[in-house]
Amino acid sequence: MLFDFEALPARERYKLLVSTIVPRLIAWVVTQDGAGVVNAAPYSFFNAFSDDPAVVAIGCGPRPEGGAKDTLGNIKATGQFVVCLVPGSALEQMNLTAIDFAPGVDELNEAGLHKLASTRVKPPRIAESPVAFECETFQMVPVGHHTIVMGKVLALHVKDEAVLDAEKNYIDTPALDLVGRMHGRGWYTRTNDRVDVPRYTAAEWAALKAAKG
Ligand SMILES: Cc1cc2nc3c(=O)[nH]c(=O)nc-3n(C[C@H](O)[C@H](O)[C@H](O)COP(=O)(O)O)c2cc1C
Repeated sequence: MLFDFEALPARERYKLLVSTIVPRLIAWVVTQDGAGVVNAAPYSFFNAFSDDPAVVAIGCGPRPEGGAKDTLGNIKATGQFVVCLVPGSALEQMNLTAIDFAPGVDELNEAGLHKLASTRVKPPRIAESPVAFECETFQMVPVGHHTIVMGKVLALHVKDEAVLDAEKNYIDTPALDLVGRMHGRGWYTRTNDRVDVPRYTAAEWAALKAAKG
């Protein structure tokens, strides 16, 4: 089946994108407004795109009734945000923070979540999250009614139990128990289904092919 993106309305393109580009880890983005009120919301248009500098990005759409979401407004105002990742144990609470609350509502309080101080930026991180990236705005790119917000990572927190070797920066990734977004509204997946596929050099591949005859 061919889907002609040039002919499809945005809503239909959205459905096709989010049901095929899966799973998507969820950036649980914590910001503060000018008065210091904390805001948190999930964004699954999210990934890492560079390591030098380390840059992560989220795609922030408009509010249903139009206008910028609080996350985008706060980042524009302060240039700072924290991206926390979502563990299976906090799925329900993450879902609560996606409610379209009025500006000035602290979603972390609403969801019964706890805050921990960040080290390089003012917005706090979420205590229930095993991974938090402290970010400052690197660049913002308007894309239609979305804005891609790129954040330069200034610091990373990983829960102690998931650090295998701090000197070598080895992380026990399955111990993070992260969840990703799957097809459609309300569907998620865990990240503990692993397969190990070795990488080959050209010489190793040639040797393997020769061995197989
Ligand atoms: C799992 C999940 C992922 C989401 N991903 C996005 C996203 O990538 N971009 C977006 O604009 N909204 C996304 N949303 C919707 C926002 O979280 C929602 O509009 C929220 O109210 C925005 O809050 P804010 O105004 O405090 O930023 C997502 C919601 C959920 C539940």
